[in-house]
Amino acid sequence: MCGIIGYVGPMDAARVVMDGLRRLEYRGYDSSGIALGVDGRLYFAKRAGKLAKLAELLADSPLPVSHQGIGHTRWATHGGPTDTNAHPHLSSDEQVAVVHNGIIENFAELREQLETDGVVFASQTDTEVASQWLARELRACGDLVQAMRATCGRLKGAFTLVAIDAAHPDTIVAARRNSPLVVGVGEGENFVASDVAAFIEHTREAIELGQDQVVVITPSTVVITDFDGNVKKGRQYRVDWDAKSAEKTGYDWFMRKEIFEQPRAVADTLLGRFDAAGHLMLDEVNIGDDELRAIDKIVILAAGTAFYAGMVARYAIEHWTRVPCEVELASEFRYRDPIVGPRTLCVTISQSGETADTLMAIRHARAQGARVIAICNTVGATIPRESDAVLYTRAGPEIGVASTKGFTTQLAACYLLGLWLAQVRGTKFGDEVADMVDELNAMPALMQQVLDRAESIYRLAHDLAANKDFLFIGRHVGYPVALEGALKLKEIAYLHAEGFAAGELKHGPIAIISPATPVFVIVPPRGRDQLHDKVVSNIQEVRARGARVLVLAEAGDESVVPFASTLIQLPSVSTLLQPMLAILPLQMFACELATVLGHDVDQPRNLAKSVTVE
Ligand code: F6R
Repeated sequence: MCGIIGYVGPMDAARVVMDGLRRLEYRGYDSSGIALGVDGRLYFAKRAGKLAKLAELLADSPLPVSHQGIGHTRWATHGGPTDTNAHPHLSSDEQVAVVHNGIIENFAELREQLETDGVVFASQTDTEVASQWLARELRACGDLVQAMRATCGRLKGAFTLVAIDAAHPDTIVAARRNSPLVVGVGEGENFVASDVAAFIEHTREAIELGQDQVVVITPSTVVITDFDGNVKKGRQYRVDWDAKSAEKTGYDWFMRKEIFEQPRAVADTLLGRFDAAGHLMLDEVNIGDDELRAIDKIVILAAGTAFYAGMVARYAIEHWTRVPCEVELASEFRYRDPIVGPRTLCVTISQSGETADTLMAIRHARAQGARVIAICNTVGATIPRESDAVLYTRAGPEIGVASTKGFTTQLAACYLLGLWLAQVRGTKFGDEVADMVDELNAMPALMQQVLDRAESIYRLAHDLAANKDFLFIGRHVGYPVALEGALKLKEIAYLHAEGFAAGELKHGPIAIISPATPVFVIVPPRGRDQLHDKVVSNIQEVRARGARVLVLAEAGDESVVPFASTLIQLPSVSTLLQPMLAILPLQMFACELATVLGHDVDQPRNLAKSVTVE
């Protein structure tokens, strides 16, 4: 949610900032802007709309060459997406320029105070309050770092602020609270950004910033302090992916590229996490065995797609560990006064590691004494940092706003975690764990088989492109797959799509089926006969109402053939693992349908990749 970059060094700052913004655009894309310092003056350009609009503006009216710049790509919160509300925001005296990610909760009160003192605001944003306040503090103390600390002390809410001061053309000051910020360490140049994608083509050395910290970068120095001015040392690490991973490599969309990366991504999630005998080794999850044995409840916390991964995980974790497992929307968790304590294990799932709802939920859980394990894709993000332990999914950067490889790698990590807990607690024998590990190991190749049949799914998307309503139904782990399939279609095709538990349909929703309504049905593998047969009955119910039934079932399942308008065959796997395969055709279907409809698949309207506000 909002992408930020700052650069100081010998290169042309406008070019570095614009390149960085291109890589950050997935975080927000309703307006963008850039500010540069040159010879004691600040220059800026900003535009509503996608980054291309700003690039056009800069091509028509270039800014002077500078070696200090900040930039922003926005996902609007306070104030609509207009040129004026776009960041950076300059103070009235044009002494400082600020870009911001987050929400300043007490902005109205601060704005009133500033207006009483005669400050005239140009925009409706909460960010301008920060820039005007910063300029006021700067006038009082003459030092941008001190002024930033003083300003942060007055702000409530979540923010990353990055500021430049006309008087110091070689310095950028940035601060964070509850919102991401990372430093890129170059040679004779330095960067700050919302995430490493912004500067990965220049350096892979990064420093994590802690909560309530301020960083000052010049071309040759990085100094971190807390809001009281005490010097702090950030954790430096090397980013393990390169700029090429963040490019489309021939695909039309990042989303499509990421769909096809899933076999590799899942293989990477599994890599090195068990030995040759199938014994799990999650050494990075450094919570003691005794503590894990004492756990009497597991609570999974997540949002959106990650929540659906959590819904699947609950079936597996409960089945393997026999520990009661709840899964809860992170945004709802703390408002119901949940019963958690030292014997509760919270598992939080987040691709970005920055989702504010999830972060607040884990803070609440930890305050009650619970232990938290994060399943996360982004190394060094806030959620893993604030958890007791982390299992990284290693999917590589996910740029498409609609999560795809995020989902399947989260599933793989959840399965690993569930089996590991079963191993530690002794609820599964070693050979049972090893059998499941073998099955997991086979998944990437099976996923590839499903992806190899993309053309038939694309044809289906073209056939159904005129439909406005889609239903998805499933039972057991097929239910979250139905929800996720519907979410993909809503997000990028802007169509009415709903996922239901197949058994619930007859309790009401079946009334919305009219002749030819497309209904995707996720049929579980045979074997658990009750489950399978019940879903086959559900197919007949929708079929009897004239629906066009699109059946996803394992190859060789003849029982569904008579009722399927279209049959999408999946390789045979255990019921619990089937979501990793069943979701793939639904992802491909949504991606192709949105493409046919002419939508921007990677940057769907109203959305942002990383939702850092509650
Ligand atoms: C859907 C999607 C969102 C995210 C949700 C949580 O395609 O991307 O629903 O899954 O916002 O995000 P993370 O996993 O980053 O916490």
